[in-house]
Amino acid sequence: MEAARVKFYNLSLQERARWIAERAGLSPAEVAALTGAGGLTPEQADHMIENAVGLHALPLGIAQNFLINGREVPVPMVIEEPSVVAGASFMARLARSGGGFIAHVTAPEMIGQMQIVRLANPVLARMMLLERQAELLEEAGKIDPVLARLGGGPRGIEVRLIEESPIGPFLVLHLIYDVRDAMGANAINTATEKLAPLVETITGGKVHLRILSNLADRRLARARCTIRLEELAFGDFSAEAVRDGIVAAWAFAAVDPYRAATHNKGIMNGVDAVVIATGNDWRAVEAGAHAYAARNGRYTSLSTWNVDAEGNLAGTLEMPMAVGIVGGATRVHPTAKAALKLMNIQTAGELAEIIVSVGLAQNLAALRALASEGIQRGHMGLHARQVAIAAGAEGDLVDRLAGQLIAEKKVRIDRAEEILREWSH
Ligand code: MEV
Repeated sequence: MEAARVKFYNLSLQERARWIAERAGLSPAEVAALTGAGGLTPEQADHMIENAVGLHALPLGIAQNFLINGREVPVPMVIEEPSVVAGASFMARLARSGGGFIAHVTAPEMIGQMQIVRLANPVLARMMLLERQAELLEEAGKIDPVLARLGGGPRGIEVRLIEESPIGPFLVLHLIYDVRDAMGANAINTATEKLAPLVETITGGKVHLRILSNLADRRLARARCTIRLEELAFGDFSAEAVRDGIVAAWAFAAVDPYRAATHNKGIMNGVDAVVIATGNDWRAVEAGAHAYAARNGRYTSLSTWNVDAEGNLAGTLEMPMAVGIVGGATRVHPTAKAALKLMNIQTAGELAEIIVSVGLAQNLAALRALASEGIQRGHMGLHARQVAIAAGAEGDLVDRLAGQLIAEKKVRIDRAEEILREWSH
């Protein structure tokens, strides 16, 4: 197993395709969907969005070494940025000696918002809605019989009085809705629209907006990991220096929104890559993450890093995770379906647990680099290859040119083109 993991990076594209086929028992069509030989067709795309003209491809890599809740998971990641897949894989390896990632999720409860305006007495209207909660929930429960059969549906209501706004006072009703294995936007938006007439009857007001909230703070995913102290030493850096450097880097993000934005961006490098690979709505997950990071009035880090009682490095990540495995692109897009199968995912909660673990690993990769040799060194190899390709290098020339650029410490397109011209004479 260890040997297989270590080797993955060195395999050819064909060997990696064979590996994923064997690892997850994928059919040739499923393998083709992941390798780019198959997958979404323009005809399918034409049914997904308007004015479709074609497809836009991105690299898909498989992060290695992830042990999540005791289970080995090969993680498909879609991302254009170098070093992310390698960083996640490496940190997942460091986390293994501490037991890997322990992750869990809360109930898949989303919030549907209804804005109620034109109220003669907003305070009284709020009381009426709360008094008739049972009736509202019963009505909402009839809206989606399929979801009800699966054990989902309305769970409760909250009613907030907004006393001051540019349009004066209004009410906000939150419909708490368990969406099971769906992302939930469709279920919530349908439910809030259908519930509006009853809400208007009860309040005498007018229901204006009816839409889900992307601040899915009742649908959280949490992951933690422990990196044993001895795993942290490398090069000239002692384990203690790396550990304490990571904690100091986290402290910076904890108190400073300018740093927290970048720190959380690093987390989202991992999160989005899996969200996109599985056909989920990454804008929704991004919106939820950043709103959650600012929930106490000041934007802060989504993760924490501390030293535990044994002197090891302990990390946590908690964030909203509105992802699904039924409905939407997750069920239509062949690559998304193959990605779910590769990870052997049965529930949306399992997917959320994997995503939050990858986010934590990615955060660690960035902080470890920043707290030691800096981020550019790790980036340089792949960056130099990208510059070489952009300059027109092909085949063996790509690696040769990249090596030359790094040796000269001039990883620039103009120099790459110049070298290519020199070599072609
Ligand atoms: C780059 O994509 C992500 C980082 O900036 C994250 C961080 O600074 O923590 C390296």
